[in-house]
Amino acid sequence: MPKPFITSSIGRKYVMAVTGLILFGFVIVHMLGNLQIFLGQEALNAYAEHLEDFGALLWIARGILLTALVAHMISALSLAIENKNARPIPYAVQDTVQASFASRTMVMTGLIIFAFVIFHLAHLTFGKIHPEVYSLMDAKGRHDLYSVVILGFQDYRVAGTYVLAMFFLCLHLSHGISSLFQSLGLNNVKTQPVFKTAAKLIALLIFIGNCSIPMASLFGVLKPAGGF
Ligand code: HEM
Repeated sequence: MPKPFITSSIGRKYVMAVTGLILFGFVIVHMLGNLQIFLGQEALNAYAEHLEDFGALLWIARGILLTALVAHMISALSLAIENKNARPIPYAVQDTVQASFASRTMVMTGLIIFAFVIFHLAHLTFGKIHPEVYSLMDAKGRHDLYSVVILGFQDYRVAGTYVLAMFFLCLHLSHGISSLFQSLGLNNVKTQPVFKTAAKLIALLIFIGNCSIPMASLFGVLKPAGGF
């Protein structure tokens, strides 16, 4: 019986590309939402509250995101294991002229990002890293996410962990974004250099955007509300 398309090598590459696109979309939207911290306490706390107002829709989006993450990881790991098994004897000379450092480290950077997401959820979704500040409320009785985020990043170990994780995310995306267009068959010899440069630029912007929050908190550009 022929294998279903989705479990074939090409099928799994498609799954990786489509789920990668969903996760990439989330990273962009999430960063733009978070950058509202620079607009002040009211903007960020109101944004976080409005997100919760989506109710069932928010849970559907979370479900899609989790499914995309699991499918992305399963297809990536299964393809990597297959590739390794297909070549049990390593090359005498590693011919890595074509393969960039980012492309050769995709599995490793992917696993680091996964570990970061777990740490990040423990930090800002479940309040396990600095539980003493997590339940802060603002003057309107809302969860004071603004102060929670800034106080968390005033801890240089937390800020440092985020910056390091964003470096690996940047490396992963710098290859992943152009590679997903390739897998979806939207790339050709002419567009390839354009996609490669655009991917690196977008990855760099995501690095700068995401790192600006822990850095601004650590160096006192962003200050928590309520006289901490
Ligand atoms: C410095 C960068 C980042 C900041 C400041 C940040 C901030 C936050 C905050 C404040 C929350 C909790 C929102 C709430 O409780 O309402 C959150 C949730 C989350 N973040 Fe981030 N984030 C950052 C980077 C990332 C990255 C790079 C990823 C993924 C690779 C990510 C994935 C998530 C996920 C999956 C959630 C849970 C979303 C949900 O509950 O619906 N974050 N983030």
